Amino acid sequence: MLLPKPAVLETAEGRFTLDGTTPLAAVPAFDRAAAWLRGALGPATGCRLEAGPGGIEIVQAEGLPAEGYRLTVRPGLVRIEAADPAGAFYGAQTLRQLLPPSVFRAGRVGDGPWTIPAVTVEDAPRFGWRGCMIDVSRHFLPKPDLLRYVDLLAAHKLNVLHLHLTDDPGWRLEIKRYPKLTEVGGWRRETSVGWRGLGRFNGRPYGGFYTQDDIREIVAYAADRFVTVVPEIELPGHSRAAIAAYPELGHGDQPLEVATSWHITQNVLNVEDDTIAFYKGIFEEVLDLFPSAHIHIGGDEARKEEWRESPVAQRRIRDLGLGDEYGLQSWFIRQFADFLTARGRKLYGWDEILEGGAPPGAVIASWRGNYGAVAAARAGHDVVACPNTEVYLDYRQSERADEPTPVGSVVSLRDVYDFEPVPAELAGTPDAARVIGGQANLWTEYMDSPRVLDYMAFPRVSALAEALWSGPERDYDDFLVRLAEHERRLDALGVEYRRQDGPRPWQTRPDAPGNPRDRADVEAGIAEITRNIRG
Ligand code: ACM
Repeated sequence: MLLPKPAVLETAEGRFTLDGTTPLAAVPAFDRAAAWLRGALGPATGCRLEAGPGGIEIVQAEGLPAEGYRLTVRPGLVRIEAADPAGAFYGAQTLRQLLPPSVFRAGRVGDGPWTIPAVTVEDAPRFGWRGCMIDVSRHFLPKPDLLRYVDLLAAHKLNVLHLHLTDDPGWRLEIKRYPKLTEVGGWRRETSVGWRGLGRFNGRPYGGFYTQDDIREIVAYAADRFVTVVPEIELPGHSRAAIAAYPELGHGDQPLEVATSWHITQNVLNVEDDTIAFYKGIFEEVLDLFPSAHIHIGGDEARKEEWRESPVAQRRIRDLGLGDEYGLQSWFIRQFADFLTARGRKLYGWDEILEGGAPPGAVIASWRGNYGAVAAARAGHDVVACPNTEVYLDYRQSERADEPTPVGSVVSLRDVYDFEPVPAELAGTPDAARVIGGQANLWTEYMDSPRVLDYMAFPRVSALAEALWSGPERDYDDFLVRLAEHERRLDALGVEYRRQDGPRPWQTRPDAPGNPRDRADVEAGIAEITRNIRG
């Protein structure tokens, strides 16, 4: 009853019994998997898994694929074999799923004996990038809750946590050289309630940010669980919180305030040398905090009105022969691509960075349907597929009128389960290999607490895990059977997932009506946007 479904699962006779005397031995290369397993099984079972031979063994084996493992359980023997530390960790995660769901609790509830069915599992992921983005700008996720999400992602064998750290409604990362980014940009006066068109605001200040030590802790905690934290610092659009803190980054003569609602503001960064230098200063600190090979620079939904009016922007376009504001955006992004490349990192950006031409080597997060994925892969860019039609987890989960604060079209559990990261246009061509994986995006306009995040994320993230880990052949009915057991694990972990029969009364938001769209609206939007992609 494993989730995500492993490549091969064979059952055998008998069971292994875990008890207070069961030892655990791991080769030094796999000590993180061993430490995690002790921490994961100990509290619920009371078993300390002291070091020693003859119980659970985690050993190195050549010839297994990257992140893959072989798990053998027999009476008196548990062996996890892997070629790399991540594989050993995923073997340990699978072992936990073979125990009763109450092993997922943080303390003993009197269950046991703790037995594991005899099996042989051979397993490896289909994709190397198995991610989830959390927007911590619109609503901040406090550090303990974020650590819990790292555990939840790892429990689903997901390995990328993309943190959307900055946006118009809040700057959430301490930058030592520019303290006003969080002193001013880290909070807003109030927040709109429900769809902005209703004009309702709550009159309540809102804010929060991660200190640099918080980030170091989160990154290290995630690394121990084989999750890479990929930071996103938005430019040139979605930058209003930064401009509110340092008005010289923007265009107006009037001071701006941090955005209090969710429309795409007109405000973009200006293209002065000082602004580029300012942001390079930010990235100096970001690179110091985040070892991730990929650094996300946003790039989406940058409005062009201010650049059209700006003499500096127009002079750049003329002097550099950039053609128009799309060319200027491409030039602006390239300044950061060169900066990151020189430091051994890769620029990662939303598919708008294809407009006007993306820098060589840039990795594209393709969100507006599949168009960007196809164009980017054909142009030689690596692609992370995150189409809004399939994996935007802010979109409502059903047609029901009581889905909380609906935005977007319906993205059902089934839609996420059927998510195919490789677009049909690329399937069977060499460009298909450009799709390095996928991620779901949790935009938090209407997810104002971890409880709401749980409702929107789960069980759709469980379906995502299978779409990214398991093979392309899928069986939804089989998934539902396994999900029913998996939900017992989520219950034990205290995850407030959406029940298949809809929201509980306290999960509805009659006080905060949304602005639902149907699939045709979303597709019309994609059609309009695709006309702008060049290069
Ligand atoms: C996005 O959804 N604006 C990337």
